[in-house]
Formats: sequence, C-alpha cells, structure tokens
Amino acid sequence: MNDPDHVKSKLDAVGYLVDDGLAMAMFLAMRLGKPLLLEGEPGVGKTAAARALSMALETPLIRLQCYEGLTAGEALYEWNYQRQLLAIRLAESRHETLTDADLFTAEFLQDRPILRAVRHQGPTPPVLLIDEIDRADDEFEALLFEFLGEAAITVPELGTFTALRPPVVVLTSNRSRDLHDALRRRCLYHWIEYPAPVRAAEIVRRSVPGAAEPLIRSATEFVGRVRGLELDKAPGLAETIDWVSALSALGVADLTDAAVTGTLGTIAKTPDDRVAVASAVPQENP
Ligand SMILES: Nc1ncnc2c1ncn2[C@@H]1O[C@H](COP(=O)(O)OP(=O)(O)O)[C@@H](O)[C@H]1O
Ligand SMILES: [Mg+2]
Repeated sequence: MNDPDHVKSKLDAVGYLVDDGLAMAMFLAMRLGKPLLLEGEPGVGKTAAARALSMALETPLIRLQCYEGLTAGEALYEWNYQRQLLAIRLAESRHETLTDADLFTAEFLQDRPILRAVRHQGPTPPVLLIDEIDRADDEFEALLFEFLGEAAITVPELGTFTALRPPVVVLTSNRSRDLHDALRRRCLYHWIEYPAPVRAAEIVRRSVPGAAEPLIRSATEFVGRVRGLELDKAPGLAETIDWVSALSALGVADLTDAAVTGTLGTIAKTPDDRVAVASAVPQENP
C-alpha cells in the first residue's frame, strides 16, 4: 500500500471504514515496520481493524487474546515436555542417554502466536494481533519488548529467531490500566474515537443490509446521544449494529415504536443503563 488513501480504499473494500487519522497510523506502521498500538473504548473497532488489515493484505491473521495470568509459554513458545519425555524413554530403551543439547532443539519447540509470527514462512508477512494487552499482567509486557523492538525472540537454549520480514503488529488496549512507557515507546500510537454519526451510519448501513435508512440514522444518532449519559458501559459500534439488526428484524421503522423498549438489551448492558437508556427513548406522540 503506497499511501494512506490506498490503505483507506483497500480497507473499505473489505468492509472496514477508517478515518484519515487511522489510515495514516496504519500506513506509517507498515511503512516504518513498527508495531501499532490502538487504544479506545470497547467497541470502537480496534480488533476489527487488525482483522480488516489482514484481509486487505491477503495475509493470515495470527491472534493472541490477552488475559490475566497469560504466560510466555502461551504467548511466545513452549518446550514440548511430553515429546521430550518420550524421546528420553526411547533412548533409555536403547541404552542411550540424551543430553540437554539433544532435548532442547527446534524439534521440541512449540510455537505460540508470537514465535509463530516471527517464523512465518509465506509470500507476505502475517498480521499479528495482540488483543487487549491491558488484560495481561503488567509483567507480561516486558516479555514483548525484544519482539516489539527487533521482531526477534531469543530462546536461551537455541538462540535468536529474527523475522525475515517483520510481521505487521497491532496491539490493542481498552485502557483498563495504563501501559508501560517502555511498551509505548516501541509502538506507533493511535486513539480510536467513536465514529462521528455520519460514519457510524455508514458502518451500520454496510453491516445491516436491508435496514431502512431513517432507522439507521435515528438509531446511530440516538446511540451517540446516550453515550453522553453517564453509563456503566457506553454502547459501541457492535452494540449499535446489534440494535439496528434487532429493530430491522422486528420491522420497526421508527424509534417511537412501542417495540423499541424490548430491544434495549442490545445496547444497555446493566440494570442502571437499561433505565437510563429507556428514559432517553423518544416518546410516541399522542
Ligand atoms: N470502522 C469500522 N468499519 C466497519 N465496521 C466496524 C468499524 N469499527 C467497528 N466496526 C464493527 O464494530 C464491531 C465491534 O468492533 P470491535 O473491533 O470488536 O471493537 P473493539 O475491539 O474496539 O472493542 C466489529 O465487529 C465491526 O463489525
Ligand atoms: Mg476488541
């Protein structure tokens, strides 16, 4: 992709709409070969951005979902102890003994997502998505520094693996906690805002084919407005898409329709939010 506009049109072709800021961030990340850290509220399209990028580049998406307690063995690589044990038993049956040098070889190394991305063979480098890094413990971030800075992973027993062509790396965070400066320093950064109503409507239009135009517009406008209420969980794009799908399936044409109340579980996800959102729904004119 030669320039940010090209990124925009390629993503558009796979159904993901970007604004100029995100197109530029993605373009620079690819051009400079640097990881891209995307932050934003849940549901603004961070995960979808990485997926769309892999589709636009026609390259595999390797995904690492982060969670509390995530370890190097699950994210980087692991020794296959069972196969090592088997090899030892087999050697014993032949009255041979294996040394560490026999047991800690590439044969017994199991790729996890990050090493898999480094060792990827193929015509194009993969997109590696390290999703919701803020869910992992903060010590986990330090395990990523070598990879983020040098597209390399050192396995003490074997040496350093360096990617022939660095993968396109997208990290996302919902900002449930702050990330290390050292991690931020190794990445380009972009904050994804909720899309403006016109772009939100365009995204919904594409995701819910067949939804009536006035419904799309009033629903996206309504969701934009309720985000201003102090909700526990502000509805994102995924929720907006679900809501318009629900309304559309019920044949609702207008937000004053009595059936709207029954669909609010798509956008309000706690009892308090349910009350706040319901009271913001426009009332039917008598
Ligand atoms: N710019 C966009 N273009 C098209 N669809 C989008 C866009 N942003 C978000 N979406 C839709 O919203 C849904 C939720 O986005 P997601 O990536 O899961 O949010 P996040 O990872 O930020 O929580 C996606 O599945 C996608 O359908
Ligand atoms: Mg996500």
